[in-house]
Amino acid sequence: LAGRNIYIREGCYNCHSQMIRPFRDEVERYGHYSLAAESMYDHPFQWGSKRTGPDLARVGGRYSDEWHVQHLVDPRSVVPESIMPAYAFLRERDLDVKHLDEHLAALRKVGVPYSKEAIDKAVEDALAQASPDADSSLLKARYPKAQARDFDGDPKRVTEMDALVAYLQMLGTLVDTRAAEPMEQAR
Ligand code: HEC
Repeated sequence: LAGRNIYIREGCYNCHSQMIRPFRDEVERYGHYSLAAESMYDHPFQWGSKRTGPDLARVGGRYSDEWHVQHLVDPRSVVPESIMPAYAFLRERDLDVKHLDEHLAALRKVGVPYSKEAIDKAVEDALAQASPDADSSLLKARYPKAQARDFDGDPKRVTEMDALVAYLQMLGTLVDTRAAEPMEQAR
């Protein structure tokens, strides 16, 4: 959620969609077309309306954390023809987690089923997710699919880069698309 907030703050949606349409060229490039369930808790949803860069709905797990950090620090060092802006400063900024519990509480009001415990522990959970030495067992119990590790290559700090890379690495990983293959079967 903290990484998603940075994604919105930085306006990544101005150039990236998160909505794979059910067309052959999109499915071949990006993976299974987006399912309604995947954005049902996404407030506001990040479908976007413009693709200056690729769709990101299933970018999770496609690249290493190191690739994302390098790409965000200096896009042209990994994709020479890229016109994406650099976001190197995210590595220098400590992640502000002070109000994460309130953010979870607000999302709960619009229907996201966070438990009271999840809200109370939001700050702790966020820090545990990106700190390699933290005990992440309670985080994993609350969020079984959560990935927890140092994301930005700097284990001493939890930065905005940690949060944004963690967000990118979970995109498209929460739903098992094999359970929704009517198109493939019909072909
Ligand atoms: C001005 C438009 C623009 C903005 C703003 C922008 N990007 Fe990009 N992005 C691109 C373009 C163009 C590419 C394709 C070339 C490349 O990989 O750098 C790209 C590629 C990517 C990729 C690789 C996707 C893939 O499948 O290869 C990721 C991940 C990404 N951007 C994340 C972000 C994030 C996160 C932000 C906000 C912090 C952001 N972008 C902001 C234009 C943009």
